[in-house]
Amino acid sequence: MGNSLWYKNAVFYEVYVRGFKDSSNDGNGDLIGLIEKIDYLQELGIDCLWLLPIYPSPLIDDGYDISDYCSILPDYGTLEDFKALLDAAHKRGMRVITDLVLNHTSDQHPWFQAARVNRNSPYRDFYVWSDTDQKYQDARIIFLDTEKSNWTWDEAAGQYFWHRFYSSQPDLNYDNPAVQNEMLSVIEFWLELGIDGFRVDAVPYLYQREGTNCENLPETHAFLKRIRRFIDDNYSDRVLLCEANQWPQDVRSYFGDGDEFHMGFNFPVMPRIYMALRKGERAPLVDILEQIPDIPPDSQWCTFLRNHDELTLEMVTEEEREWMWQEYGPEPRMRQNLGIRRRLAPLLGNNKRKIELAYSLLFSLPGSPVIYYGDEIGMGDNIWLADRNGLRTPMQWDAGPNAGFSRAIAEKLYAPLVSSQEFGLNQVNVAAQRRDINSLWHRIRNMIRLHKENHVFGWGEFRWQDAGNDAIAAYWRTLSERSLLIINNLSPDSQNIRLRMPEACASEPVDLLSGRKMGKFEEGDLVLKLQPFQFLWLNILKI
Ligand code: BGC
Repeated sequence: MGNSLWYKNAVFYEVYVRGFKDSSNDGNGDLIGLIEKIDYLQELGIDCLWLLPIYPSPLIDDGYDISDYCSILPDYGTLEDFKALLDAAHKRGMRVITDLVLNHTSDQHPWFQAARVNRNSPYRDFYVWSDTDQKYQDARIIFLDTEKSNWTWDEAAGQYFWHRFYSSQPDLNYDNPAVQNEMLSVIEFWLELGIDGFRVDAVPYLYQREGTNCENLPETHAFLKRIRRFIDDNYSDRVLLCEANQWPQDVRSYFGDGDEFHMGFNFPVMPRIYMALRKGERAPLVDILEQIPDIPPDSQWCTFLRNHDELTLEMVTEEEREWMWQEYGPEPRMRQNLGIRRRLAPLLGNNKRKIELAYSLLFSLPGSPVIYYGDEIGMGDNIWLADRNGLRTPMQWDAGPNAGFSRAIAEKLYAPLVSSQEFGLNQVNVAAQRRDINSLWHRIRNMIRLHKENHVFGWGEFRWQDAGNDAIAAYWRTLSERSLLIINNLSPDSQNIRLRMPEACASEPVDLLSGRKMGKFEEGDLVLKLQPFQFLWLNILKI
């Protein structure tokens, strides 16, 4: 498609293939099902699909435990189906990236199976072994609810092995050049097939060094830069998206000097959006945005509201975490590890205006937005399912049997549909929202269109505008002559505001979202009344 910076201004959609559309009627979504729904995604305005892991796996971590890196989980289809998906997407000008899990394999991977039974196997050194469980004590445990240590004893191996996630996910040993080469071959395999890049999973943890917390080590950056070089030398228009759940300076390091990742998830901003919405104050956003360092000009943040994991509270203070748990996870069952296992709509009390406001922030703050499947219609969750499965229930397409997800009998579905009064298929489904011009789906579709049409969002500067009112998050997005003033009322009350404009402006700003003229200038000030949770994207002509 010949546009190497396409990701700067793209809208991403995170797809859980198992939950999207079942074409074979076995109760599991699959790649052909996704192809059947690709026109829907195009209609929504999506530029790039990010597929959660699609590889063979024992599914202890829903596919993030890979047992074969170069084929497709049979439930999801075949490599041929995957190629057909790429074709279907590319024909529509859409791109596809997949998850690349570098840090660990499944314990069912043939490498680990060979490694554990034979100390002399070339695969032994693919993993990190020790006679004691005392090394690297400064490394935190991530899956706190289930894991007591980052070391697990393996009887057949007669040693402990290292793992940062579930004990069924042994970490690979990147000190071994053979591991590096194997993973580069995996990368090559998928790029040769034609994928447009990778969302690279859990990148901070590739190396271990005594006396450190074993995160963000220089060796890790060196290997990631090697991947980038390999891609730059051999391919064009591909993207590497970094999953590093870290504080701003540490996330920043993954962009390098424009020679590591093209994109990185903006983990620090995400929980502050929820804080700002709950407090009805812009302060949490102002604080965190001040701390976000500049990134190289060709790089881009990925902003998101929710994803397939718990809403992580690792990158907030202890006090903030307690507050977030109280406000957003009052039931113990809602809490998981250091986070909250709920979807966007339930988190925001299913308040449509508030959900739209959250999207206004998502689409107008710096970065390329990522939408989690189902959140475009405000799907609910099921906190009673194990692990994070309650965030991964079948997509609700219509009010028919199994919400149009599958024609299998309901008992055969991989997970039950959400069936609550509030979020069941009769209340929340794509077909109904497509028919209703005022639905959340239509609002989001409009924001996606405007985000793409207005390059200020992907490319422009960001600058706060003082509104003299803590409840208002107002900011400029500017790119050469073009200026948009975004005004979000974070409060549940209406607000009269008076904005002192930095420069003289022409009268009658127009709200891009509604096409209406909004507010008026009085002595150079913009005077407006905002409804509860109202937001405006004003096109302001400077004189
Ligand atoms: C993924 C999780 C997964 C973990 C281990 C994460 O960052 O998003 O879903 O459990 O990596 O692979």
